[in-house]
Amino acid sequence: MIPTEREILAVHKDAAPSREAFELVYEHCQIVWSVASQFLTGLDVDGDLVRAGALLHDVGVYRVGTTAYIRHGVLGHELLAGLGFSEPICRFASHHTGVGLTRDDVLQQELPIPVADYLPETREEELVLYADKFHSKRTPPVFLSGDTYEATVARWGADKAGIFADLRRRYGDPVLDALTAKTGYAVI
Ligand SMILES: [Fe+2]
Repeated sequence: MIPTEREILAVHKDAAPSREAFELVYEHCQIVWSVASQFLTGLDVDGDLVRAGALLHDVGVYRVGTTAYIRHGVLGHELLAGLGFSEPICRFASHHTGVGLTRDDVLQQELPIPVADYLPETREEELVLYADKFHSKRTPPVFLSGDTYEATVARWGADKAGIFADLRRRYGDPVLDALTAKTGYAVI
């Protein structure tokens, strides 16, 4: 039920519209897995599920095209469901945006996605969502410190900043030194 890394790589290669898109998104997914793996010790979670979720969470980015980027979550869910992946795998795509979208967020911000709650429901989903916040696919890609992301998310409301602060309290900030050395991307 949980895809192997080889199967996941094939999903990326088949879905990516270009070599550049593949390299950007696949590297980001590997970084998110590397960050998430730092939090697994001592937790009662399925590490293989976290790995698959982290490595697949952003495949919807390949489908965004000229539509709104916020749609990448639901597009990824659709893509994975279309390939026959189970709901727990598909949900990593649709439930990792920000610190979790509520139906109120969708309505108030008029987001172009179906009106629903997109909040992590399992520890595995929460870990992928959290780890994702520490790396950005901007040009050039960067790592974000916990403080930087917390300041960024505060723009969406004190409640969002509070949710992120709570995640930081529970999991701690990741150690990014090895990843910055390996990739050359700065921490901002
Ligand atoms: Fe991501």
